[in-house]
Amino acid sequence: MATPTPNPEAGGPSAASRELRREVERRRTFAIISHPDAGKTTLTEKLLLFGGALREAGAVRAQKAARHATSDWLELEKQRGISVSSSVLHFDYQGYRVNILDTPGHRDFSEDTYRTLMAADSAVMLIDAAKGVEPQTRKLFEVCRMRQIPIFTFVNKFDRYGRDPLELMDEIEKVLGIDAIPANWPIGAGNGFRGVYDRLDRRALLFSGGDHGTTRPKQVEVAGEPEDIRDALGETADEILGSLELLDGAGAAVDVERVRAGEQTPMFFGSALSNYGVLPFLERFLEMSESPGARESTNGAVDPVTSSFSGFVFKIQANMDPDHRDRLAFVRVCSGRFEKGMSVRHARTQKTLRLANSTLLMGKDRTEMAEAFAGDVIGLFDPGLFRIGDTLCADGEFHYPGIPSFPPEFFMRVDVAGAPKRKALSKGIEQLAQEGAIQLFQEEPGAGSAAMILGAMGPLQFEVMTHRLEREYGVQLRLAKLHFTAARWVGSGFNPTAFRYSETTKLVYDRDDRPVLLFANPWALESAGRLHPDLELLTVAGG
Ligand code: G4P
Repeated sequence: MATPTPNPEAGGPSAASRELRREVERRRTFAIISHPDAGKTTLTEKLLLFGGALREAGAVRAQKAARHATSDWLELEKQRGISVSSSVLHFDYQGYRVNILDTPGHRDFSEDTYRTLMAADSAVMLIDAAKGVEPQTRKLFEVCRMRQIPIFTFVNKFDRYGRDPLELMDEIEKVLGIDAIPANWPIGAGNGFRGVYDRLDRRALLFSGGDHGTTRPKQVEVAGEPEDIRDALGETADEILGSLELLDGAGAAVDVERVRAGEQTPMFFGSALSNYGVLPFLERFLEMSESPGARESTNGAVDPVTSSFSGFVFKIQANMDPDHRDRLAFVRVCSGRFEKGMSVRHARTQKTLRLANSTLLMGKDRTEMAEAFAGDVIGLFDPGLFRIGDTLCADGEFHYPGIPSFPPEFFMRVDVAGAPKRKALSKGIEQLAQEGAIQLFQEEPGAGSAAMILGAMGPLQFEVMTHRLEREYGVQLRLAKLHFTAARWVGSGFNPTAFRYSETTKLVYDRDDRPVLLFANPWALESAGRLHPDLELLTVAGG
């Protein structure tokens, strides 16, 4: 099999190739996964603030508000006080270029988050110290697991009385099935949360000030084994010593290689609100996480430095700017140097495209970008050509694996044939499905758009869709609820005529004509497995 064409720049150790390597090596691209309310917005904001990308706390919220004010369909976000869209944020810190792939907070839009995780090199799992592992954390964790990306855990809200750290550690191990190893340990809790003991560098970091706002807290370092620095550990010294001894005795040591392999998650404690523990976490994260690595393609692994430009579309968002009614494809750069105006192959259609309009995304703001490297995300104006999962490459003919689909849990039927403005309606639905705003199913393979079944992760997704079809396409969407609650793709051995259907099970086909079984309840799903022991029921398709 041919390998992707080497980047001519990287042929020898020229200044350009050295620069390319330097640029890739300093990049860290991650997503934060959490259950709503665990503090993702607050942590993101503090990271941006300390990274110098924001001047004031509250700016991310303000930006969300500004986006609400200028956006059309995102009006719904404002009405509901939820976040349904996602963006990309970046900042430079201690020589690193940090790219945060922001994700929607609301559970109903989790498919967007799943797709974004395909573009991330690692994930930060944020846990509320009082609540531990919550349902949404668990789902998102499973997607990270599937990709085997490193997961770093930040236990937030330690300025409140939460659960015992050992208990949280145990819960992560039991519920998520990954080794959780504290990289640091909280000193005090609630009002008395004063710092962390850094288990890796054997030192206490004591915080003061920081006033829950924009200023960095003062950080005093007291080096030494815990028993030698009892005074620094304060009145809870005995308790901390006991826990740390327990951890050391049990051989609970952070192993960077295991972290990078996704087998172990290092735990950090802190409070995003009071800024305590945020920087020690960030610095350790930057040190332990890796720069963008080689990605598998149909032509083997594509090296981020020695291969020429390539990337894939992981997200499409339309009408981010209502003044322009544009559609933006988010491309994760995987290799080489992206340069504005360059020509690339669009692998699916084999077309050559000139990427004249590229934009660097920073929240709601966009700036023209001249170049980008592996790990970066660029926004390309999309004339309707791109689909989620599409590969772009400067040389060669290869594809990155597509972005998988995850099973929806809510289903609606649309009667397109009987609806007014039939053409506009099916075009609108088709385009929104292309964008990944909804999943589309049909009762027969290749049945066209006469009768469609729409699948979503949650009811709000239908609401956004109805709203957008009205605003953007001038059509009314009338939906009839279906009683199904689960979907599974089936393995290649599936025989549609031999399958025993019932009231609670239905066969449909996805946009790629793959058969999908819909189930009304968990019992129907379970009984299908029982009646057809050889049937493969898959929770992920494609990718
Ligand atoms: P999310 O994006 O994960 O949904 O969470 P977000 O940051 O919006 O935080 C949810 C709530 O938790 C917010 O309170 C926020 O201030 C609070 N919070 C975040 N981090 C910490 C922390 O470290 N300690 C404490 N005590 N609280 C934290 P809210 O009352 O819902 O909103 P607001 O009035 O503070 O804006």
